[in-house]
Amino acid sequence: MGLDVNKVRTDFPALHQLKDGKPIIYADSACMALKPQQVIDALVAYYTEYTACAGRSPHAFSLKTTRLYDDARKDLARFINAKNPAEIVWVRNTTEALNLGSHCLSLEENGKGTIITTSESHNSNLVKWVRLHNLGKIELKIMEMPLTGMFNLEEFTEIVEKCEEGNFLASLNHTSNVTAAHIPETEIAQIVHERDGILQLDAAQSFPHRPIDVQKMEVDLFAASMHKACGPTGMGFLYGRYDLLEKTEPLILGGETVSDVHYPHDIKLLSPPTKFEAGLQNYAGAIASGATVEYLASVGMDKIQSHEKLLSRTMINNLRETLGNKIHILGPENPEQRAALAAIDLKGQINPHEVAILMDEMKNIFLRSGFHCTHAFHHEKHLDVGTLRPSWYLYNTVEEVNIFVETLQEIFDIMA
Ligand code: ALA
Repeated sequence: MGLDVNKVRTDFPALHQLKDGKPIIYADSACMALKPQQVIDALVAYYTEYTACAGRSPHAFSLKTTRLYDDARKDLARFINAKNPAEIVWVRNTTEALNLGSHCLSLEENGKGTIITTSESHNSNLVKWVRLHNLGKIELKIMEMPLTGMFNLEEFTEIVEKCEEGNFLASLNHTSNVTAAHIPETEIAQIVHERDGILQLDAAQSFPHRPIDVQKMEVDLFAASMHKACGPTGMGFLYGRYDLLEKTEPLILGGETVSDVHYPHDIKLLSPPTKFEAGLQNYAGAIASGATVEYLASVGMDKIQSHEKLLSRTMINNLRETLGNKIHILGPENPEQRAALAAIDLKGQINPHEVAILMDEMKNIFLRSGFHCTHAFHHEKHLDVGTLRPSWYLYNTVEEVNIFVETLQEIFDIMA
C-alpha cells in the first residue's frame, strides 16, 4: 500500500491552520520541513519533564537525558545503517557537518590537499573551500555542472586522476536543491577510493527523502540537517567512517572533548564522537532528532520516496503542458530522475520574487524564490534574477501541486 497522505497530514499541526479562512499549501520543504506532533512532543517533554545535562550530574533528570541522548544517536545510526553509533556526530546543521568533514584532509600533515566540488554546490559546500583556496591552503577543483544537473563521471574521473593519491576530498551534492538531480554516489565512491581519496556527501536534500544506507553507498562522510527532515532546527549530523573520525581534528574544543587536562600543555582528547561535541549540547534537539527518524521510519522511507515521485511527475508534466516554453525548469527532463522540487526560470517575463509573494497572497502557497544559496550556479548560468522554487514533501497532495501549476499559469496570464 502507498503512503496515506491524509493520515500523514493529521500529524502536522501547521497544516491544520487556515490563513484568511483558507488552507495553506506548504511548498518550501527544501528550505524547512514542517514538524509532526511526535517531534514537537519530544521537544516539549525535554523542557517540561526532565531538563538536564547529559553525562555530567548523577541525578535522575541527567541520567534520563544521557540515556535518551545516546538512544537518539543509536536510532539515527540504524536509520542510515551506520556500523556503529559512534560514527554519528551531532552538529548544528549540514554546513557545520561539511566544515567538520573537511578536517579529514589533514592539511598540515600531508601538505596541500585538493577538494573537489561542483559548480552547483550549495554555499555550505563551496564558500569554505573557496576561502581556503584563496588563503593558499588547498587546491580546489570545481567541476562545472550543466543546467540538466547530470553528473559527468568521465570528467570527474579525469579530475580525480590529477589529484595526489590519498590527499583529496570530493565533497559533492547528493541531491541538488536547484536541479533536483541525484548523483551516482556508488560509482563516484569507487572512482574516489581507487585513488585513496575521501568522499563526502552533502545530503541535505537526500537524507529527508529517500532510504539511506551509508555502508551500501560506500560513502566516507555524510552530512545532513534535521530541520529539512521534519526534525528540530539547529540540529544536524555528520556520519563518518570511524577510522576517519579518529584521525579528524575537531572544529571546536572544550568541555566534554577531553578525558583529562594537566597544566600547562597536556590534553587527552576523547574518542569520536565525544571529542567533536564540545560544551553543553542541544539535548532537546538531539532527542527530538531521534523522534524524527522514528517518525520517518514509521511512515516508511520507500513510501515517502514513491509519493514524492508522484508529486514530481505531476508537477513537471503539468508545467510542461500548461506553460511549455514560457518557462525553463532546471534539472533532468525525466521526472523519474528528479527530487520533488523544481527551480523554475521565468525567462525574465516576471520577477520570481514577485511571483512568490503573489502565490502567498492569492492561494496561500508558500514557496521560495531567489538563488537558494547557489549564487555561483545561478550567476554562471545567467539566471541573475534567481528562480522560483516549489519543493514538496510527504504531507503534500497531488491536488496542491495542481493548484500551484494553475496559479502560476494565472499569474502568467495576468502579468507576462
Ligand atoms: N538550502 C536551503 C534551500 O535550498 C536553505 O532552501
